[in-house]
Amino acid sequence: MLFRELNRGKCKTYLVACERTHKAVLIDPVREKVERYLAILAYSGCKLDAIIDTHTHADHRTASWELHDLTGAPVIMHRRAPAPHVDLHVEDGQEITVGDVFLRVFHTPGHTPDSISLYTNDRVFTGDTILIHGTGRCDFAGGDAGEQYDAITNKIFSLPEETLLFPAHDYRGHTHSTVGEEKRTNPRIAGRTRQAYIDLMNNLGLPLPQGIQESLQPNQSAIEDESIKFPTLAELNQVRQLSAKELQLQLMTAQHPILLDVREPEEFTGELGHIPGSVLIPLKELPARVSELEADKHKDIIVICRAGVRSTTAAAILTGLGFDHVGNLKGGMLEWTDQQLPVER
Ligand SMILES: [Fe+2]
Repeated sequence: MLFRELNRGKCKTYLVACERTHKAVLIDPVREKVERYLAILAYSGCKLDAIIDTHTHADHRTASWELHDLTGAPVIMHRRAPAPHVDLHVEDGQEITVGDVFLRVFHTPGHTPDSISLYTNDRVFTGDTILIHGTGRCDFAGGDAGEQYDAITNKIFSLPEETLLFPAHDYRGHTHSTVGEEKRTNPRIAGRTRQAYIDLMNNLGLPLPQGIQESLQPNQSAIEDESIKFPTLAELNQVRQLSAKELQLQLMTAQHPILLDVREPEEFTGELGHIPGSVLIPLKELPARVSELEADKHKDIIVICRAGVRSTTAAAILTGLGFDHVGNLKGGMLEWTDQQLPVER
């Protein structure tokens, strides 16, 4: 197996390649470094076979969409990933094959709902689930300290002690650790009960990273278009959230809401389908096509997407444009279909 970390910074991108076939995978590529990755792949005689994001990143723009555009390599993320254009959704226990290299997927939510770790041979890539002598924060939307504790202690710590551990970030110049080392000395986890960990993580009081929404919302929506103005965190937090069950009840009433689906056309007719009666306007087209909704400005509108994330952005955009009864389907079509509610394709 060929292996390298490519960024030499706080944010880590790993190249893993099969020695026999020279098929390669990039884990967590960063947008500003696309040229560097392509140069290294060419220099090493490797062909990019897959691009994996361990989770939806909040601190940097992903290079996944651009690398996919340039090379055709599929983008792989967990099923809970909110963005469109993910070519392969994976779940816990699945294996990703890259030539003779097998990456086993562990669903390790907590930092984000879509966090995965990848295990192969002697090493595990943990994303921001567990860091070297630390853990990824759980205070962004969808974060959950309890889930993170379970993922670390039940999944990562079940691997052999000598397993090398490579996180997505390190702020202190470390390159790697081991499962055994973190089990014994990780200051956030070692000797802590689940409840003690939750209390610790919920009271860290960390400031939000600078420009978080400028990275997070493009990553969540795969929108590269710089002209789209994304809502602020405060505007997003004000969006009214409805559960799948609540929406289903509303749809049974005479004055049911207008359903606005903001996914891409291939998602609308794809695996998850759409709620019967939905109108489709993809998020990236919404600012230009908002006039189509002019007559509904004062009506009840519920916005829908895959995971409920892009639709929250769309709902905040509409509210900002003077629509006064906009809500969001929490958990999106993933939640709707998990509840086995009716869909059309
Ligand atoms: Fe992260």
